Amino acid sequence: MASSGAQSDPSPETILVTGGAGYIGAHVTAALAASGRSVVVLDDLSTGTADRVPDGVTLIEGDVGDAAVVGAALHDHGVTAVIHIAAKKQVGESVARPLWYYRQNVTAMATLLEGCVDAGVGRFLFSSSAATYGMGSGGVIEEDDPPRPINPYGESKLIGEWLLADVARATGLRYAALRYFNVAGAVSPELGDPGVFNLVPMVFDALTRGERPRIFGADWPTPDGTCVRDYVHVADLADAHIRALDALQATGGEVTPEADAAETVDGLVLNVGTGQGSSVQEVIDAVGRVLGHPVDVEVVERRPGDPAALVASVDRITDVLGWSTSRNLDDMVSSAWEGWLALHPEAASLAE
Ligand SMILES: NC(=O)c1ccc[n+]([C@@H]2O[C@H](COP(=O)([O-])OP(=O)(O)OC[C@H]3O[C@@H](n4cnc5c(N)ncnc54)[C@H](O)[C@@H]3O)[C@@H](O)[C@H]2O)c1
Repeated sequence: MASSGAQSDPSPETILVTGGAGYIGAHVTAALAASGRSVVVLDDLSTGTADRVPDGVTLIEGDVGDAAVVGAALHDHGVTAVIHIAAKKQVGESVARPLWYYRQNVTAMATLLEGCVDAGVGRFLFSSSAATYGMGSGGVIEEDDPPRPINPYGESKLIGEWLLADVARATGLRYAALRYFNVAGAVSPELGDPGVFNLVPMVFDALTRGERPRIFGADWPTPDGTCVRDYVHVADLADAHIRALDALQATGGEVTPEADAAETVDGLVLNVGTGQGSSVQEVIDAVGRVLGHPVDVEVVERRPGDPAALVASVDRITDVLGWSTSRNLDDMVSSAWEGWLALHPEAASLAE
């Protein structure tokens, strides 16, 4: 359990993680703490929980959009780098409440950046998303492909990248925007994803309710007819944050991999995926392997706004950070299952 209140003797290198009590943020926080860094979490606990913040890490309960809270967090703790993970992330909700999404994800980020400039924070990592690409081009996506988000959630992430690029140009802030693809798995059951917004927990949820998981279309132009996505283990993702933070520190200036990458002049935009696509059917087959029996599915109509395939090009992150994934789809599904069981013990009978 986290401690709270101001530290009287901040270490020279202190990292503020916003959203550190959430699914991904807790993994990043744990990885940073395990690497010996001093970490402070700022989280309003709107979807996160305090028990995800490791012992020894200060939790400040507050809103990233509150300038006074941000200013105090940065100054009181001598923060030198910020990892901005806090956001609202539900596509459907963003379509229904666009202005609220812009306030949560864009206005709040502007407030955080203002505080960072004021406090002289030198480095900033931002949780961006593959949602910035929208429908993509039907296959492997490179960072320089045109971003064409198709909903307010994806738009809010792209605007966040623009905010960062503009602030970096004006102030010299060094940054990396990490475009996460489909994040799954957990390092331990208690850090499992409590939300039911991604495919793996959605499959577990349907099975737990005694229903067949639904596949939205089996007639896509993909090898088995179901949609293809790039799933990345949350532990590999957390490792990418540590490498990105170190890369920004090591360079002390521009970290542009190619001089002609106009949108990354003052920072770095990186896909975080495996470079390998898995189809919905392949994910469901992996669930079947974990449960010890095949999973029966229901094929329904396609959903509007679903690209057939969205897979990350990982050339840039491999080149710039020397990062690659070490966990596969079965690792993600089996660890996600342990996390699901921790929250839904009644599901235990689903496994043979
Ligand atoms: N989960 C994925 O597959 C995925 C994919 C791409 C990008 N992302 C991005 O990763 C980030 C984390 O996602 P997650 O899956 O861990 O979600 P999550 O909901 O588990 O975590 C978000 C955390 O931020 C906190 N938070 C939200 N708004 C806040 C605010 N205004 N002030 C302070 N704290 C606030 C929440 O309480 C929560 O702890 C988000 O920015 C999301 O857009 C996630």
